[in-house]
Amino acid sequence: MRVGVLTGGGDCPGLNAAIRAIVRKGIDVHGYEIVGFRDGWRGPIENLQEELTVESTRGILPRGGTILGTSRTNPFKSDDGPERVKKTMEDLGLGGLIAIGGEDTLGAAARLHTEHDVPVLGVPKTIDNDLAATDVTFGFDTALQVATEAIDRLHTTAESHHRVMVVEVMGRHAGWIALHSGLAGGGDVILIPERPFDIEEVCSLISRRHARGRNFSIVVVAEGASPREGTMEVAAGQTDEFGHVRLGGIGHRLEREIEDRTGFETRAVVLGHIQRGGTPTAFDRVLATRLGVAAIDAAHDGRWGTMPALRGTRIELVPLAEAVESLRTVPDEDYEVAAPFLG
Ligand code: F6P
Repeated sequence: MRVGVLTGGGDCPGLNAAIRAIVRKGIDVHGYEIVGFRDGWRGPIENLQEELTVESTRGILPRGGTILGTSRTNPFKSDDGPERVKKTMEDLGLGGLIAIGGEDTLGAAARLHTEHDVPVLGVPKTIDNDLAATDVTFGFDTALQVATEAIDRLHTTAESHHRVMVVEVMGRHAGWIALHSGLAGGGDVILIPERPFDIEEVCSLISRRHARGRNFSIVVVAEGASPREGTMEVAAGQTDEFGHVRLGGIGHRLEREIEDRTGFETRAVVLGHIQRGGTPTAFDRVLATRLGVAAIDAAHDGRWGTMPALRGTRIELVPLAEAVESLRTVPDEDYEVAAPFLG
């Protein structure tokens, strides 16, 4: 059998480990040929691909990013997108396709399977850790380490200058990176998309802390966090092919607002794509490897329309449709763990 593989959406550390696992087990154990599509769904739509071999994927395990390239191309954006994907697969003689991605890439994969009968499997990844069907996505652990290290570094400069430092981390719909890096790094205020914030409360937490003799504060904010309606204005950004707004900006908005309202000197740092780049942690390499192996085994068993997921400590196959029906956001009880440490 020939099997295609693509990586779509935002890149993340661990993608190459997953590709390597699919190639290694696919070729060496199952005797398959593996075709790597370029740049996410653009690859099968425009027939941009290359043969992947054990030799061509050597040495990629510790490398960040994706050797296949990625994009936010949506195959359902144009009417003939799904047909073009099918035609490319037929022309290349592919028995199936493995799509490694987050909510958008896997959402397209699920629709291609249910609405167009395309034999497709998913592999979950995203630094945001917001896919409901899996306990953890690979990429998250690395991003968390980067954000935590940044907070540790910002602590010393905040303390020296007696400043408020606002650290904006990624997290579009879910505040996992903000909450966990805030917990690990000792953030004094943690703002996440799941809980619209009141700027008055943010400022009183900071003022209370300063009144208790601390003369610096760290505010960790997820890029998708927003103020409660009517409490603070924020600007809207452009949207991508999946209709997502380009985020990034809440940190600087908070910087101005906190300084104006509290009188404390404030600086904002936007970590942005630094969180997505670089070498994956051992945890992400291992998780990506396990998921890649499970995906090619599932292909071998003809389990199209599914996705390997981490459930507890085991990898299980779940229906792709289930994997994309809801997002895994931060529950209140998880956020409440941070409450004693705020302010
Ligand atoms: O999908 C993960 C993510 O890193 C989000 O946290 C963020 O909003 C988005 O990607 C940024 O996307 P881009 O790299 O296309 O600007």
